Amino acid sequence: MRLSAAVALVGLAATSMFAGVNAESDVLDLTTKNFSDNVKGEKLILVEFFAPWCGHCKSLAPEYEIAATQLKEAGIPIAKVDCTVETELCQEHGVQGYPTLKVFRDGEAVDYNGPRKADGIISYMKKQILPALSEVAAEDLVTFSQSDRVVVIGVLPKDAEKREILEKVAKKYREEFVFGVVEENPDVEGSGIVLYKKFDEGKNILKGDDFTEESLVEFIQTNSVPVMDEIGPDNYARYMDAALPLGYLFFSTPEDRTKFSAEVETLAKELKGKMNFVYIDAAKYGAHAANLNLKESWPAFGIQNVVSGVKYPIEQEGDLTFEKIKALADGVLAGTVEPSIKSEPIPETNDEPVKVVVAHNYKEIVDDLDKDVLIEFYAPWCGHCKSLAPTYERLGELYKGSEIVIAKMDATTNDLPSDVPFIIQGFPTIKFRKAGTTEYIDYSGNRSEEDLIKFINTNAVNKADVKADVEADVEAEKEEPVTADEIEHDEL
Ligand SMILES: *[C@@H]1O[C@H](CO)[C@@H](O)[C@H](O)[C@H]1NC(C)=O
Ligand SMILES: *[C@@H]1O[C@H](CO)[C@@H](O)[C@H](O)[C@H]1NC(C)=O
Repeated sequence: MRLSAAVALVGLAATSMFAGVNAESDVLDLTTKNFSDNVKGEKLILVEFFAPWCGHCKSLAPEYEIAATQLKEAGIPIAKVDCTVETELCQEHGVQGYPTLKVFRDGEAVDYNGPRKADGIISYMKKQILPALSEVAAEDLVTFSQSDRVVVIGVLPKDAEKREILEKVAKKYREEFVFGVVEENPDVEGSGIVLYKKFDEGKNILKGDDFTEESLVEFIQTNSVPVMDEIGPDNYARYMDAALPLGYLFFSTPEDRTKFSAEVETLAKELKGKMNFVYIDAAKYGAHAANLNLKESWPAFGIQNVVSGVKYPIEQEGDLTFEKIKALADGVLAGTVEPSIKSEPIPETNDEPVKVVVAHNYKEIVDDLDKDVLIEFYAPWCGHCKSLAPTYERLGELYKGSEIVIAKMDATTNDLPSDVPFIIQGFPTIKFRKAGTTEYIDYSGNRSEEDLIKFINTNAVNKADVKADVEADVEAEKEEPVTADEIEHDEL
């Protein structure tokens, strides 16, 4: 998933509306003994593998309860497995972090990548039980077209070749939208595609049957996003997937929200398909402002390129006006405004074994093509970054004086230069750039000194006489294993 900064997501993921838990739970408790009996025979079942201490599991719990109760009525069971007790069962299912959610279809598992809020879970699972593309009878058309937030209906004769394309797209996007096909539909003359939605204009029509897979996907992507919605954990991913620049209007009072809404919504309509706009409630997600290099002072507006991560805040000296918003949006689309690059000051002395990289010395240190560079992107609050620190310091010392640079950057206080070809999705992120190339290699091994040294020595163009010290790793191995829960990343 394309995400600008881990902090973005933590901010959006952190809140949960519901605190209480039902006394009578509809979530099935499964153990090694009864797992198979409950899962194998089920057409569709959602299973959460959790640990009682895991924070994200705790925030999911009340949502999961609500979803269980409603899905029970739809005949879809949902279950949970405590991995601190059922360790083997969890290992068998390849559980590496908590919570891990899997959908079992006739006993076969696939990862659950849906939302973590009750409404989202319910809608996702209900879509899973439908065929990817439903054949809809004329008398069911109205009900079917209103059965979800976005329903895509193909209007095509029974033997139309284009049904194949529709089915292909439906299979690809079945988790997000409901798809159906009918032979006739009063909303369109002849063939076409109708996208029904519970917002904005209510429906969009793609006339005729000369669509391709690409144009159909584009039609769906463009029209399934509201002109201007309020962003939150349930729709965040959708905006990321849309891959268009995203304008955020931060508000803290209803007055701030409505002050610009008419004009900004008109602009959003004009720029549809080029740029998305959202409202964001500063009372809940004010911390997200930092990701746009904005201060927490409202109302505020900024645009982010969700693909490259670069950001364009409106400076907060004077009052926010619609003219400023429009000028920025036009400028970003025309490519005439410079992105804002946040940087800590360049360290005066930088002679420690691990080089300190900030945005303003990134070119000088990391883009020095004579050197091989290993760089860690960290966050001050990230526990695994802290556990890595001593190992990383030792690496710095071992490679000191060589042409292999060991570097680190606090990615919460520094932006990546806009020409860097990746964004940071979690902490720590470790990358390596070989001397002479501008490409980065991901380090995905474990965080032992031995493995890091092996990785560097295998990949570096410059050579250094450094050997792995196995002793040091014996200490490191005593540390808790890495769980996905502790690698801070997208939880939406
Ligand atoms: C599975 O077994 C455990 C332990 O005996 C029990 O608490 C749980 O209710 C059982 N689950 C189901 C769905 O039967
Ligand atoms: C790291 O992985 C290597 C195998 O590549 C293994 O020998 C070593 O024990 C692992 N170390 C830790 C700390 O997990």
